[in-house]
Amino acid sequence: MKKLTIDLGQRSYDILIGTDLIEQTGRIIVEVLFPSQVIVLTHPSIKALYGEKLDSALSSVGMKPHWIEIPEGESSKSLAQAGEIFDRLFELNCDRKSLLVALGGGVIGDLTGFIAAVWLRGLPFVQVPTTLLSQVDSSVGGKTAINHPQGKNLIGAFYQPQRVIIDLNTLKTLPANEFKAGLAEVVKYGIIEDPDFFEFLENNSTAILAQDPECLQRIVQTSCTVKGQVVEKDETESNHRMILNYGHTIGHAVEALTHYTDYLHGEAVAIGMVYAARLSRNLGKCDPGVPERIQALLEKLGLPTTLPKLDVDAIVESMTHDKKAVQKKIRFVLVTQIGTVEIVDDIPPNELKKVLQND
Ligand code: NAD
Ligand code: GLY
Repeated sequence: MKKLTIDLGQRSYDILIGTDLIEQTGRIIVEVLFPSQVIVLTHPSIKALYGEKLDSALSSVGMKPHWIEIPEGESSKSLAQAGEIFDRLFELNCDRKSLLVALGGGVIGDLTGFIAAVWLRGLPFVQVPTTLLSQVDSSVGGKTAINHPQGKNLIGAFYQPQRVIIDLNTLKTLPANEFKAGLAEVVKYGIIEDPDFFEFLENNSTAILAQDPECLQRIVQTSCTVKGQVVEKDETESNHRMILNYGHTIGHAVEALTHYTDYLHGEAVAIGMVYAARLSRNLGKCDPGVPERIQALLEKLGLPTTLPKLDVDAIVESMTHDKKAVQKKIRFVLVTQIGTVEIVDDIPPNELKKVLQND
């Protein structure tokens, strides 16, 4: 088991990465917390897979948990769902010493984190992420949110967990498309910060897709390390943290214009990363080899790299609604070489349209 520490002063916490960690959850929690009760939030399907193990791990340290089951899907990150959970917390007499545990992917993690941030003005919570995306991205860094009908993640808070417990065994039951979608974020860490890691991904794509245990440990560990370092520098995204959004500006537009049905988030980000690299090349920021390498790696990992047929003006218009846009000026993360990016404001719309049209 590997332990990483995210250093955020009083809000610091450890990320534990290894196998068979669900079985050790009780022991891991009592190292840092003595909750009055434990309430686990999860989907019924995840409870069916991992509920018994987690229940007995918590019961073994005297913390028999209550369970709140939440329907699957992005639509559960809603005010209505949050309202139902608040009702349950009231019934359970959930006090400030109660602990919430998020067992699931990013939907469960974002929703549970949001509830933890606002119920009684703040409860401790622990993330037990079970998708690759949540293990390498959403469980780390304290972004919690629910959606507004007009946009994703518009209602939320920066609120850090007490611990992140990453059991790599849970990936064995994850559908292959969800696993590959998580790999897009893994590639992103190589692009923004770590050229050696990018090369490792290029050289080990087959073993990664086969979920070789050593590869999994390395990719999750390195991803959490890079993300943690970025969050330590800029917890509330005043500027630097935006580099984590590499590929997301176009990716979010693709997701929105295809009504969040055609692409998983990571798939849309994969497309976005290729076009962001081509834009970087066209603006003279990087060599032509950079977008080519990014595209080749994503394709090896079974991810899409071509924009679907969409109206280019609609893509650009959608980008002006991006949370990172300021006064409708599109803010972009551009790549200068593998491992280095820069944040550029006010990209000329004609350059953007050219890259979206040409390829
Ligand atoms: P998800 O939580 O919807 O999980 C995807 C599917 O996989 C679900 O059907 C789920 O039930 C299933 N699943 C989860 N773990 C499983 C397992 N071990 N075995 C079998 N099935 C399993 O999707 P996601 O991709 O994990 O997360 C997407 C969410 O994360 C979005 O809401 C996005 O906004 C959010 N997000 C947040 C951040 C952040 O920093 N907070 C970052 C990126 C994404
Ligand atoms: N997923 C981007 C961030 O946490 O900032």
